[in-house]
Amino acid sequence: MFIKIENVCFSYPHIKEKALDCFSMTIEKGEVISILGPSGSGKSTVLRLLSGLEMPSQGSCTIQDRVIFDQHTFVQPEKRGIGMVFQDYALFPHMTVSENILFGLFNMKKSERKTRLKEVLELVEMTEYEKRYPHQLSGGQQQRVAIARAIAPNPSLILLDEPFSNLDSELQLKIRKDLRNILKNAGITSIFVTHDENDALAIADRIVQIRAGKIQNIGRPCDLLGAQLPKTTLLIEEESERILAGV
Ligand SMILES: Nc1ncnc2c1ncn2[C@@H]1O[C@H](COP(=O)(O)OP(=O)(O)OP(=O)(O)O)[C@@H](O)[C@H]1O
Ligand SMILES: [Mg+2]
Repeated sequence: MFIKIENVCFSYPHIKEKALDCFSMTIEKGEVISILGPSGSGKSTVLRLLSGLEMPSQGSCTIQDRVIFDQHTFVQPEKRGIGMVFQDYALFPHMTVSENILFGLFNMKKSERKTRLKEVLELVEMTEYEKRYPHQLSGGQQQRVAIARAIAPNPSLILLDEPFSNLDSELQLKIRKDLRNILKNAGITSIFVTHDENDALAIADRIVQIRAGKIQNIGRPCDLLGAQLPKTTLLIEEESERILAGV
């Protein structure tokens, strides 16, 4: 397995209840995982712990057998090789699309940076917007730039917190499909947080349902949310049964 998260517990300072209670799961390379749960259930806390913004009181996480944190180790956030896409995209307003993406590529040679910039712009279909500033882009376009910026340094994992919450519902539908394609084409292992079952259904390979800091279920969308998924399938099945029965 690619990522192993074991028994991670965490409480915010001065708060009695655990924000996360014994969170454990494994993730395969290239998998798209959705963490689904109501407000306050601990979804963002999982991402904050993985990215290194918080330190767990217990538990461990390894990425390709490299310890990211455990009882003895705490790798600094910038050394984890984890990309993050925030809810408000957090693009630098005074930088163009290209400059935003190049910002994280300071370790690469100049020629490599140019090639990588071209690749990720193509991946998110934003090549023709490279000279624009964030305020000259739609919400969906800004989101794609934020994803390109996070993907550009080739992180081993990308985390997305409620990536659709700032988009209107029509755009949400379009972006859902785009996001899955972008992540799958890039082959990047990803975890995205949402409170919307439809997001999880449309994008995830597997869904982790959490409530009050505890995992309730982990499974494929069709297994977990099957009750709503196959409404049309059920109708077709009912129809075929009626036809077969000659009713
Ligand atoms: N900085 C903080 N200090 C104290 N408690 C916090 C802090 N941040 C979050 N919490 C608490 O931890 C719990 C989990 O919060 P978290 O932000 O992970 O929830 P969430 O599932 O992301 O919710 P939402 O969908 O509203 O973003 C909540 O009960 C919340 O009140
Ligand atoms: Mg949150």
